[in-house]
Amino acid sequence: MRIILCENYDELSEKAAGIVASQVMLKPDCVLGLATGSTPVGMYNKLAEMYKNGEIDFSQVRSFNLDEYYPIKKDNDQSYYTFMRENLFSKINIDPNNTHIPNGETDNPKAECENYEKMIKQSGGVDLQILGIGQNGHIGFNEPDASLNSYTHLTKLTENTINANSRFFNSYDEVPKQALTMGISTILSAKKIILLASGASKSTVVAELLNDAINTSVPATMLKTHPDVILICDRDAYMGTKLGIDIGGTNIKFAVVEGDCVKYKSSVKTERTCEGIIEAIAKEANSIKEQFNIKKVGVGTPGIIKNGMVTSVNLPFENTNLEKLLKERLGLPVTVDNDANCAALGEIEFGTTKECDNIVLVSLGTGVGGGIIMNRQICHGNNNMGEIGHIIIQTEGGRKCPCGLCGCWEQYASATALIKDAQAAALENKESVLYGLMEKNSSRLDGKLIFEALDQGCETAKAVFDKYIFYLASGIESLVNIFGPDAVVLAGGVTKQGDKLLAPLKEKLRGNIRIEISELQSDAGALGAAML
Ligand code: PGA
Repeated sequence: MRIILCENYDELSEKAAGIVASQVMLKPDCVLGLATGSTPVGMYNKLAEMYKNGEIDFSQVRSFNLDEYYPIKKDNDQSYYTFMRENLFSKINIDPNNTHIPNGETDNPKAECENYEKMIKQSGGVDLQILGIGQNGHIGFNEPDASLNSYTHLTKLTENTINANSRFFNSYDEVPKQALTMGISTILSAKKIILLASGASKSTVVAELLNDAINTSVPATMLKTHPDVILICDRDAYMGTKLGIDIGGTNIKFAVVEGDCVKYKSSVKTERTCEGIIEAIAKEANSIKEQFNIKKVGVGTPGIIKNGMVTSVNLPFENTNLEKLLKERLGLPVTVDNDANCAALGEIEFGTTKECDNIVLVSLGTGVGGGIIMNRQICHGNNNMGEIGHIIIQTEGGRKCPCGLCGCWEQYASATALIKDAQAAALENKESVLYGLMEKNSSRLDGKLIFEALDQGCETAKAVFDKYIFYLASGIESLVNIFGPDAVVLAGGVTKQGDKLLAPLKEKLRGNIRIEISELQSDAGALGAAML
């Protein structure tokens, strides 16, 4: 079975429509096996659009639908007759005489099924069969059952299918309890099959389909016996509901993500010991697992990660195999990455730059952290890529950095550097507004006071701030020259000042650099971790 993994439902619909269109172009009088349900609707819309644009001609195409409820009147809103007319047949030039759907009005279902099977054979057989997949693994209405060696037949729907389909009816009771369906053998006799799966609700069954051996309790696994099947699925169906965890120095943040939807957020305190941290994560994550059908866990942590082993100066991790420890406690696949990388991923998946492919995240805090995303993927390099705070921007007489180098960017552009420089300038200019504000605050400065002094027209504060902007801009220019990102995203406490920071920075930067302040800020890490 080949897999085409799509970003989202729209791409899935586009890919599936492309395969159908190619089939029709290659063999204009081909026989299509058509499916109903919500999944193929986007594909049908794309096909109708292609027909409207003159790209495809259905005049000779013949079709056989997979199934129909039983009993049901053709003119019932929920019959597959109505579905096919509304979603496809009325929008394209297919000859109604060439379309076939099992007759849900028949009073002789056995004869109807035999005749349907005969008509398929007489047509030369299905060239391309389109399938959806039920949450219980059914294809067509072939429900989990001991015997699946069948041709078109009348079948009883399972509780699971009646429940799933009751969303289209006024009530559960209105859903027909039986259906006429092509059998597994009918489906497998198609020359080519495409199976569509979209959304997190299909992730369990997609995992079963891919991982389990052929078995009749997941009827779709029977497709593994066919030589030409393509599973086209979106990321949600492939990966399901994900939990992201961002371990910070003060708090551990949790985010549950389904597709591009954030379902739940929470946070707990960061404990002092490694065991305490693991325990706290396990407690919260296991309680989240009770509410959500979590399929995988991503974790962002400060520090260096090599082969899954984490070493962090800010947290009690030294060659700690976080992946293994958490996997044992959570019973789920766990992926660990650097927290700044996760934040960058969070920005490109959920932030104001989500339409971009390439971004650099610059986080201005105690140091300058960063993450580089190219083609929507984190760049890891061989070793510690993305340590942008340590690019050297002052070669001669550069300030000493704890990393061992001199002149590192974070010694000039971090929030800490801004405060240190402002403190020194205030002490040299005791008549300044800045000094006055510092004295009022028990001789201590913070970022906020610097901006307050700037608001009051303080020349000392302005000189410090101008220099800060100069250094910040220099580093950003270098990053842009190296990576050529679509945008640079700034995060961290200083960026809460918004335009007071952004406007002077933009003035210093060349005009073609897109620069944004993060809207997600400290939430980006957990969201990005979920997407690892
Ligand atoms: P759905 O149904 O596309 O509405 O999810 C698929 C199926 O039950 O086969």
